[in-house]
Amino acid sequence: MSNSIESHLAEDRVFKPAKSFSAKARISSMAQYKKLWKESVDKPKKFWAREAKELAWRKPWKKVLDWKAPDAKWFTGGKLNVTESCVDRHAAGPRRNKAAIIFEGEPGDRQVITYGQLQREVCRFANVLVAKGVKPKDRVLVYMPMIPEAAIAMLACARIGAVHSVVFGGFSSESIVDRLEDSGATHIVTADGGWRRGKIVPLKDNVDEALKKYQGIRSVVVFKRTGQEVAMTDGRDSWWHDETAKVPAKHEAKAFDSEHPLFILYTSGSTGKPKGILHTSGGYLTGAYTTCKYVFDMRDDDVYWCTADVGWITGHTYIVYGPLAMGVTQVMYEGAPNHPDFGRFWQMIEEYGVSIFYTAPTAIRAFIKAGDQFPEKHDLSSLRLLGSVGEPINPEAWMWYHDKIGGGRCPIVDTWWQTETGAIMITPLPGCTPTKPGTATLPFFGIDAAILDEEGHECKPNEGGRLVIRKPWPSMTRTIYGDKARFKKTYWSDYKGMYTAGDGARRDKQGNFWIVGRLDDVLNVSGHRLGTAEVESALVAHAAVAESAVVGRPDDLKGQAVVAFVTLKEGVEGTPALQKELRDHVGKVIGAIAKPDEIHFAPALPKTRSGKIMRRLLKELVATGNVTGNTTTLEDFTVIDNLRKSIEASRKTG
Ligand code: WT7
Repeated sequence: MSNSIESHLAEDRVFKPAKSFSAKARISSMAQYKKLWKESVDKPKKFWAREAKELAWRKPWKKVLDWKAPDAKWFTGGKLNVTESCVDRHAAGPRRNKAAIIFEGEPGDRQVITYGQLQREVCRFANVLVAKGVKPKDRVLVYMPMIPEAAIAMLACARIGAVHSVVFGGFSSESIVDRLEDSGATHIVTADGGWRRGKIVPLKDNVDEALKKYQGIRSVVVFKRTGQEVAMTDGRDSWWHDETAKVPAKHEAKAFDSEHPLFILYTSGSTGKPKGILHTSGGYLTGAYTTCKYVFDMRDDDVYWCTADVGWITGHTYIVYGPLAMGVTQVMYEGAPNHPDFGRFWQMIEEYGVSIFYTAPTAIRAFIKAGDQFPEKHDLSSLRLLGSVGEPINPEAWMWYHDKIGGGRCPIVDTWWQTETGAIMITPLPGCTPTKPGTATLPFFGIDAAILDEEGHECKPNEGGRLVIRKPWPSMTRTIYGDKARFKKTYWSDYKGMYTAGDGARRDKQGNFWIVGRLDDVLNVSGHRLGTAEVESALVAHAAVAESAVVGRPDDLKGQAVVAFVTLKEGVEGTPALQKELRDHVGKVIGAIAKPDEIHFAPALPKTRSGKIMRRLLKELVATGNVTGNTTTLEDFTVIDNLRKSIEASRKTG
């Protein structure tokens, strides 16, 4: 968020893909990109229909697109089973014994699953879900470690037309309750635990805790991963290995409508509870597949590795659906990047011969901090392409990634997209786009992205504005589950018929998009969205807290750090012990990712005369130590002065 225009301009190096790379790429020149991009936005139906035809359909669509903003229906009349494209068609051909997933657990255990085996496992688990009574459109909550069974559970849901709702394994039991209640889920797939930094994440215990508060669950299937003792409730809980042993490894896949719901994934917004972003089948899969094909230029001999967790959209689109639809071999890793040390990723890249590597700027910054000795110990020459996602990548991190990991020879695709967009929207294409550190460059095929001012006029070069998408695309979210009004208000009410992303951005003279960050009260912590409102409501739920305001502060490692201002109830004393208690409390209510990095006790918060907390001032205060912005609406000026003093004092001692 601190990348000023000057720093970008100073960073004016341009990196063109090597001729040898371009020669083999699907899109090998800017002329080819420009021509195809123009065709694709002039005639999006033609472009997307051509791509969708490369997937397995049971029944062809009648209409490519039915569009009445904000409602899009893609490939209407068409029928498919998503898992047929991702699994069956590979298992039925020459890829049958090709590795689909090369798995490495954090403790060092390994497993290779071929496409043929993946088909058998997905079929088995589909049969288990059917036996448990799961019906099409039922919601199944998946709360798993990063193990192949997470992907198998998701695919098994897709196979029987059930809607998976994956909850990131780092989220707390209260987060599970919220998601269960909002989605009305009836079944859960989980594990006893998962490994993270040598410790067990107690997934089943968290589920048990959540189910004290939510009554709607009929079955919980538990994969045995870590082997510690867990409670099993009779009649409700059963083991994955017992259930799969009872059913055949064949399952006949039914075809579902192209617009059949595929999954719900919760993401933070600026106000209220997390939003259940709904994605459907045919269009989503087309977006996932097409971007894997052109952005990662995946080939049959590639070894691809995306380090995201399946609990985020990146894991859905670029671990499960996209790469598997392409039939590629991928590496999957369970644990932390620094376990046992910061060499783990580089060791795995060397060992498995990873050729395409997709990670997040926050991880790259942690590696830079850990030191070059870790990557230097390993032979990374198998890499041919690097990707980045989650937040703007700062030029320093970009250059390090390029030089130390890519050996100066690998193109970097800095991919901008969101949970809502389903697939990559703004990105270089590796065989043609000249890249500059810090910009996601140009729109993908079929994507009509623009930057508008408040009146809806397109901004001039280098003028900042709001990022919008002016035409529908297949993998766009169809709604916020159960809340169409919020969907319309959040994404479709700023400009008529256009999707607003909530990001601020500018375009340079070459048309490259530079994403500046969120315009709303949403933090980007380690590449993941966190609503300030969620953290505030968690704090206020604590007995000692009267009021709180949460803002982001630029942070070298995490992108943004979480800073909380807390007004305590009458008579409660603000002690270091209470600070710790509040941090742990937020960790318990939301998850470790949301724990405030700083908590400041404040007798009063800066407010407008009408009582609105002025977060803008708090943000400036924590970032710069001062407030220079407009304070004319501030009711009580002494509040800011007192806050400044207390921040200075606590940073000195802390
Ligand atoms: C927000 C979406 C897309 C999967 C990961 C996060 C920010 C994402 C970039 C990028 C600049 C980026 C945006 C966006 N963002 N990628 N390459 N450059 N900013 O998904 O949790 O839905 O967050 O992440 O602010 O709106 P998400």
